[in-house]
Amino acid sequence: MPDKVYLFDTTLRDGEQSPGASLYPEEKLQIAQQLARLGVDVIEAGFPISSRGDFEAVKQIAEMIEGPIICGLARAKEEDIKVAGEALRLAKRKRIHTFIATSEIHMKKKLEMTPQEVKKAAIEAVKLAREFTDDVEFSAEDATRSDVDFLCEVFEAVLEVGATTINIPDTVGYALPWEFGELVRKIKENVRGIDKAIISVHCHNDLGLAVANSLSALMNGARQVEGTINGIGERAGNAALEEVIMTIVTRKDAIPFRVDVDTTQIYRTSRLVSDLTGLPIQPNKAIVGDNAFAHEAGIHVHGVMKDRRTYEIIDPRQVGIPQSRIVLGKHSGRHAFEEKIRELGYELSREELARAYVRFKEIADRKKGITDRDIEAIISDEIFAPPETFRLDYVQVTSGSGLLPTATVRLTKEESSFVESAVGVGPVDAIYKAIAKVFSIPHQLVDFRVESITGETEALGEVTVRVEKDGRIHSGKGASQDILEAAAKAYVQALNKLLAFSGKEGR
Ligand code: KIV
Ligand code: ZN
Repeated sequence: MPDKVYLFDTTLRDGEQSPGASLYPEEKLQIAQQLARLGVDVIEAGFPISSRGDFEAVKQIAEMIEGPIICGLARAKEEDIKVAGEALRLAKRKRIHTFIATSEIHMKKKLEMTPQEVKKAAIEAVKLAREFTDDVEFSAEDATRSDVDFLCEVFEAVLEVGATTINIPDTVGYALPWEFGELVRKIKENVRGIDKAIISVHCHNDLGLAVANSLSALMNGARQVEGTINGIGERAGNAALEEVIMTIVTRKDAIPFRVDVDTTQIYRTSRLVSDLTGLPIQPNKAIVGDNAFAHEAGIHVHGVMKDRRTYEIIDPRQVGIPQSRIVLGKHSGRHAFEEKIRELGYELSREELARAYVRFKEIADRKKGITDRDIEAIISDEIFAPPETFRLDYVQVTSGSGLLPTATVRLTKEESSFVESAVGVGPVDAIYKAIAKVFSIPHQLVDFRVESITGETEALGEVTVRVEKDGRIHSGKGASQDILEAAAKAYVQALNKLLAFSGKEGR
């Protein structure tokens, strides 16, 4: 049996550090559930000391998710480790991941600590973390720009006091694959006690090399890869876990390792992360992009029709891309709808199915064929929408050549309803001004995007917006055949998230 590679998913921690990717605790739980279905070995659920919301999310995931190890991040500081230990208390399998920077620039300029102070803090952190769990990971932040001898000295010291995983982050995405492989090999050969620990790598994608660096590390002794779904994360992101997985699976002739995951859950996981974070997947993204299995050129299409393997190295079914057997339309009944939902890989409760079906019927009455993307948009809009403080009841707009665009909206909050009107330079502007009056919370609209799910004018339109307050971005999504309604829904969702994050009630 080939050696196992442990998959450490940090979508909910490093991934959530992507600008605009802030997630509700409920959304984090949904993603964690899906990651458990995918079968990753470790879920880094958050950075508990960083905010009340992160603490609650880690706690909830620790309590509810079974299977993967649940991990919480902590700086090499007493308070961080105690808070992480508390958040993880009820996890069946838990890990504390503590870190401190070891590069000269970080130690001098950021930490203002001497190397020996850093080493001492690392030792104390691991010792304290071991009081909460036997599973402790230590990361030397900015390892690839650190002095190798000092790096080895720190790793040796933390192993002596009980670290069980040693992580080598390429924090700024600076390493080249052969350099990074060499670094891993040196650490494996020179650090006393390393044979009892797992060597892990954590690569950022600033030069587009995160996956290549991770693979090079595996070939030189690493056995854990850290990454995120869709490669989201700080700046250019992290190693895309789905790419690491499918490279190992597809090139098993050249990579002598195995991963214990259900690859058919990849597509579903990728869509869920994109829907809930509001971060779109580029069409040509490897493994999960819309075009990853599309063939345009005549020669290619001809080849694929004769035998897929002429131009496809992965069967799309392997990653769970639905191969539509059921086509839905206005005459489709509940049974066909439920079958389609299953085919697309969703697991909905009876109540969620009922709600999604009502929405499907409304749309099917007005649109000829319902595509898989339509269904995905319905589920994202109806089921995965985060809890709402304010709910959009209706939106009315007058607009046209020579008219002053005017909008009236009604939003409800518990038993109260709020009606506001506004004029704007266009209908969306008028709607947004009216909605902003209801929420009455200062913010900046920083992004507004409209997408037609399928090509026709009767298609569902999907709107994504991002709003910013105090440097934090919140995204919202809305889908409807009426693009103005979709725009209103998206804005209300983003402002609801902002409201929840700032702990305000609104009106
Ligand atoms: O990139 C990094 O160095 C990190 C550490 C906390 C592991 O995210
Ligand atoms: Zn990172």
